[in-house]
Amino acid sequence: MSSAGERRSYVATTFFGLEDVLADELRALGASDVATGNRAVTFSGDERVAYLAVLTLRTALRVLQPIHRFAARDENQLYRGVREIDWSEWTSNKETLAIDAVVNSKFFTHTKYPALKTKDAIVDQFRERTGKRPSVDVDDPDIRLRVHIAHDETTILLDRSGDSLHKRGYRLEKNPAPLNEILAAGMILLSGWDGSRPFVDPMCGSGTLPIEAALIAGNIAPGLIRNAAPKPTGLLVRPLWERLKRDAVSAKTPIETEIVGGDRDGAAIAIAKRNARKASVDKSIRFIRSPIARLEPPPNALAIMNPPYGERLKKAEIEKFYAEIGDRLKEAYVGSEAWILSANFTALKRVGLRPSQKMKLYNGALECGFRKYELYEGSRKSSKHGGD
Ligand SMILES: C[S@@+](CC[C@H](N)C(=O)[O-])C[C@H]1O[C@@H](n2cnc3c(N)ncnc32)[C@H](O)[C@@H]1O
Repeated sequence: MSSAGERRSYVATTFFGLEDVLADELRALGASDVATGNRAVTFSGDERVAYLAVLTLRTALRVLQPIHRFAARDENQLYRGVREIDWSEWTSNKETLAIDAVVNSKFFTHTKYPALKTKDAIVDQFRERTGKRPSVDVDDPDIRLRVHIAHDETTILLDRSGDSLHKRGYRLEKNPAPLNEILAAGMILLSGWDGSRPFVDPMCGSGTLPIEAALIAGNIAPGLIRNAAPKPTGLLVRPLWERLKRDAVSAKTPIETEIVGGDRDGAAIAIAKRNARKASVDKSIRFIRSPIARLEPPPNALAIMNPPYGERLKKAEIEKFYAEIGDRLKEAYVGSEAWILSANFTALKRVGLRPSQKMKLYNGALECGFRKYELYEGSRKSSKHGGD
């Protein structure tokens, strides 16, 4: 263990495509040596930076602290490497453990076995030294570890975030197919929206995009809603954490931007309203039950939407629906920018507007296009020349 002022290296994990926005978030909170990787960003900083990462990042899944690195080509070497760590520095036989593994190596073919071997090494060390062993709790452990194996290099990382940071704590009920909160925040940050112009999601389902937009506009740290102290709590410098939380409360700003969430489904709107209330941003979002064809967006807005991908609809029906979305954009969103996230690439072509930007993101396992359309006077005409 070490002092709060000591600089250490960390890894923040995220989804594919969000690495750059996560890196920007990290630089903004004062992290150094920020470097993007594949679904991860490495950085360094003192304990304050680590806590700020857990408290304020919108696009990180987890904040991990590498604690040991060693070479291992088989299970015995892995076991010995884990035993090199003095585990009493990190946990005790009274705390519960959960271990997951990420493996990319010809020497290890599963993820379960390295996780199990790591657990055995920790448990054996405690049993030999104290006669008692820590137990495993996969749902709500006191200490969560990750074993990362790349070729013959193993890194043992301590999860400083506790539970995954996408669990903001506002999602009480799920509409079918809600966006992950981190993906929603990432989409908004990728669009460059900073709260200075109106925001609209005309197909908001459970409200994830408008709620994340309100959190951004109000400079509300996601950790303030989550309200859980980062784990392992045994390592927590509580006065520092409490001070950073108070600073985050003072940094909140009034939400003056107009934020609108529409959906044709009344049940979805009811869920979205309850979720927004739980996130304490319900007064800043206007939820409207309306089909997109009749929703009047605020002028000069940023629109982001995640329409159905058509799993349950016939091909012709979903393509017609995307053409209708395009028509509505040309009709009612002139002066606005619209972004659409969809895994249905054929339907996306039916929008009939030329995207000015295209990105690749994943919604769960589904590869999606994230497309930007600029709606200026004359978009209607230019669309005749084809979509994307
Ligand atoms: C994939 S879900 C959006 C999920 C949402 N992003 C969330 O995080 O919960 C698509 C939504 O579009 C809505 N929808 C479908 N057709 C619509 C239409 N014509 N007008 C408005 N909303 C529509 C559905 O009711 C559904 O809630």
